[in-house]
Amino acid sequence: MKCCLVLPLLLFVFCPVLQAYRWSSTLEDNAHVSACVDGNVSFPWSMVTEGKEEKILDIDWLFQAPGKGNVSFATYVDGNFLTNKDRFTFIPNAGLFLQGAQSHDAGRYYVIVSLHDPKCRLTSAQRMVTLTVADRPPATQDDALHVTLRDAVRDDVTKDWTLQIHCGLFVDFGHPRSDVAWTTPSGEVRNSSYQDNGTFVLSVSSPVQGGNYSCQLAPSAPAAHCLPATSPLNAAAQLYVDDMDVRLSLLEARQRELISLHQDLKDDFFKQLTAELTNLTSQMSGLNEKMDYFLHNPKELIKKQNKDQYFEAPYL
Ligand SMILES: *[C@@H]1O[C@H](CO)[C@@H](O)[C@H](O)[C@H]1NC(C)=O
Ligand SMILES: *[C@@H]1O[C@H](CO)[C@@H](O)[C@H](O)[C@H]1NC(C)=O
Ligand SMILES: *[C@@H]1O[C@H](CO)[C@@H](O)[C@H](O)[C@H]1NC(C)=O
Ligand SMILES: *[C@@H]1O[C@H](CO)[C@@H](O)[C@H](O)[C@H]1NC(C)=O
Ligand SMILES: *[C@@H]1O[C@H](CO)[C@@H](O)[C@H](O)[C@H]1NC(C)=O
Ligand SMILES: *[C@@H]1O[C@H](CO)[C@@H](O)[C@H](O)[C@H]1NC(C)=O
Repeated sequence: MKCCLVLPLLLFVFCPVLQAYRWSSTLEDNAHVSACVDGNVSFPWSMVTEGKEEKILDIDWLFQAPGKGNVSFATYVDGNFLTNKDRFTFIPNAGLFLQGAQSHDAGRYYVIVSLHDPKCRLTSAQRMVTLTVADRPPATQDDALHVTLRDAVRDDVTKDWTLQIHCGLFVDFGHPRSDVAWTTPSGEVRNSSYQDNGTFVLSVSSPVQGGNYSCQLAPSAPAAHCLPATSPLNAAAQLYVDDMDVRLSLLEARQRELISLHQDLKDDFFKQLTAELTNLTSQMSGLNEKMDYFLHNPKELIKKQNKDQYFEAPYL
C-alpha cells in the first residue's frame, strides 16, 4: 500500500520536465481556414500554462507564401505586439486577427511560443494554419442549381452503361474552384465523377437506385462561403429518378448501341459488295474490249484459233 503512494510523489520530484502547457483546442494544428476577400479571419491560438514557473516568454509569427520561404512578420515581447502587417492584431494569448483578407495573404501561418518550463529551461511550442482566400464566388446561369438526367454513357472499363446525372449550369466555378457534393437516395454523400461543360456529373452504375439525387455546393469549397447568405445558390437542387425511367434510359442506350452496331455491320457489308461489283464490272469491260477487237478483226481471230490448234496439236 505504501509503495503506491510513494511512486507518484517520486515522479513529481524527479520528472518535472513533462510538458504541462497545452493548446486549447479551438484551432487544431495544420488546420485549414478560409476567408473571402475583404473579409475578416482569426487564428484563435491560445495556450494554457500550468503553475507560476511555466511562463510565456515571447511569441513569433511566421508567414510562408506558397512556394516561398518563411518570413517573420509579428512578435509579442514584454506585453507588446509588434507587426509590419498593420491589418493583423493580437488576440490573447497567442492568436491573431486579420482584417480585410487579400489574395496575397493566402499561405501558411506559424505561431511559435517560447516558454520557461518548470525547470527553467526554454521550450518552444508551435502550430500552423493554412489560409485560403477566396476572391470569386461560383455563379450559375440563372442563379440556381439544377439537376438533370442526360444520355447514359458506356463505361469502357466495366463495359456497362452508367446513368449520367448533371448539376449546373455553372458560368463560373469561382476561385478557388468550387465543387458540388451529391447525396444519393440512400443518403450516401459522394463527390462528382467528373466535370463537363459547366456541369458536375455523377456517374451511377447499375443497379441504379431510384429516388432523389441532390447536389449542393460542397461545404469544403472556400469560394462557396463567399456567396451572400440569401443566394439561392446555397440551396440544394434535386431530381427524382424513377426506377422505371432509369431502366428505360439504360435500355435505350443499349438499343442505340445495337442499332449503331447493326449499322456498322451493314456499312461493312455494302462496302464489300460494292468492291466486288466494281471488280466484276471491270472484268466484264475487259472481256467486252477483247470481243470488240476480234469482231472488228476477224483475221486475227482465225490466226489465234490456228495458233491455239498448232500448239494444241501434239496433244490431239
Ligand atoms: C471586420 O472587422 C472590423 C473590425 O473589427 C469590423 O469593423 C468589420 O465590420 C468586419 N468586417 C466584416 C465583413 O465582418
Ligand atoms: C517555416 O517555419 C516553421 C516553424 O519554425 C518550420 O516548421 C518550417 O519547416 C519552416 N518552413 C520552411 C520552408 O522553412
Ligand atoms: C471528396 O473530395 C474531397 C476533396 O477533394 C476529399 O477530401 C474527400 O475524401 C472525397 N470524398 C469521397 C467520398 O471520395
Ligand atoms: C457547352 O454548353 C454550351 C451551352 O449549353 C453549348 O453551346 C456548347 O455547345 C457546349 N459545348 C460542348 C463541348 O458540349
Ligand atoms: C423526393 O423529393 C420530393 C420533393 O422534395 C419529395 O416529395 C419526395 O417524397 C422525395 N422522394 C423520396 C423517395 O424521398
Ligand atoms: C478482282 O478479283 C480477282 C479475283 O478475286 C482478283 O484477283 C483481282 O485482283 C480483283 N481486281 C480488283 C481490281 O480488285
